[in-house]
Amino acid sequence: MSASQQFDDHLLPLWEEKSLTTPAFVYDEAAVTNKLELLAKVRERCGCQILYSVKALSFSSLLNTIADHVDGFSASSLFECRLAREVLGEKGSIHVTSPGLSLSAIQDIANISDYLSFNSSSQWQRCKSHVERLNCGLRVNPELSFVKDDRFDPCRDYSKLGIPLSQLATLWRQQPETFAGISGIHIHTNSESENFRELEQTINKVKNALEDFMPGLDWINLGGGYLFDNTQQLDVLCSIASGLKQQNGLDVFFEPGNAIVNQAGYLVATVIDLFDSGGKTIAVLDTTVNHLPEVFEYQYKPVVLQECADGAYSYRLAGASCLSGDLFGDYCFADKLQVGSRIIFANTGAYMLVKANMFNGINLPAIYSLNSSNELRLQKEYDYGYYRSRW
Ligand SMILES: Cc1ncc(COP(=O)(O)O)c(C=O)c1O
Repeated sequence: MSASQQFDDHLLPLWEEKSLTTPAFVYDEAAVTNKLELLAKVRERCGCQILYSVKALSFSSLLNTIADHVDGFSASSLFECRLAREVLGEKGSIHVTSPGLSLSAIQDIANISDYLSFNSSSQWQRCKSHVERLNCGLRVNPELSFVKDDRFDPCRDYSKLGIPLSQLATLWRQQPETFAGISGIHIHTNSESENFRELEQTINKVKNALEDFMPGLDWINLGGGYLFDNTQQLDVLCSIASGLKQQNGLDVFFEPGNAIVNQAGYLVATVIDLFDSGGKTIAVLDTTVNHLPEVFEYQYKPVVLQECADGAYSYRLAGASCLSGDLFGDYCFADKLQVGSRIIFANTGAYMLVKANMFNGINLPAIYSLNSSNELRLQKEYDYGYYRSRW
């Protein structure tokens, strides 16, 4: 089988289109809209509201597409809020939570957003007089971990994310006046989970601990951290959301990021050099791990579309920067790579482009969209002027 035959048909332009300048970040519009349609069904079925978490991928033409299918956006800083409001205009709600909001940012955020979940009781006390027009909530850390890697686990020991549930329950009983003005709670506790039973356990724990608190609340934001790929799991999700709505009278929000954009993103690179080093063939690419920073940050091996596990040709794919650890990993291919061969990294839509940097002065990937007629459209290119303006 030739390498190109291993591609899904609609990705062939990435492989063949020589006018595509690499490195290129390509997002597949149909993959995003398919996910949004799935989420629209979840919304209809269980009466929840869906927000898109802007931090996953903030490219504005993509945000415009997403805006038509969601109830609003969730943001984690003033700049994300401003971007969200510019894209949404007057039509959707903006939810914000962050451990790092300064008083001056909160005043500006209050003017353009709708819901703000305070990360700590002291953040709430310090800022509450500035946010009177907002729906105010508390981010709660349910102290129930499902994520094995501490770096992704909002419920890790000594977590900085949210008020620990046990502390909140005690405070609520001893000083309920502290929370006058709070109308909702925010829970974001997971990462890339497909298992909504974990969410169910989390909610049961919160409900048990805050039984007196819940009747005074109007809304709950269940955060992101879940994928929506397993249709059987959607039944669990819908029963959770309907329960919160019907039994507790709460408006229910979800704010996925990864689930909407990750599978829609590809990084396309070109092999620019091949040489032997101690018996391994190094294939240097015109990209770098700094275009996929989570590969380096979390040391994982990205999916390469052309990889063929039992292929006869093995290469170490290396990035173009001076860092010796700028490596993607060892991969086998059915066909020999040449200088000029294309390498396509898949599942790179979330948390990559937003974190990409220009270390070594290597340009950022150009951004293309791939539409449902398989046409690639250049959306943005960076140049020396952009690099220069940072310094
Ligand atoms: C508070 C909050 N909400 C939503 C999200 C989106 O999570 P995901 O992209 O895993 O769905 C995050 C991600 O870090 C988050 O911190």
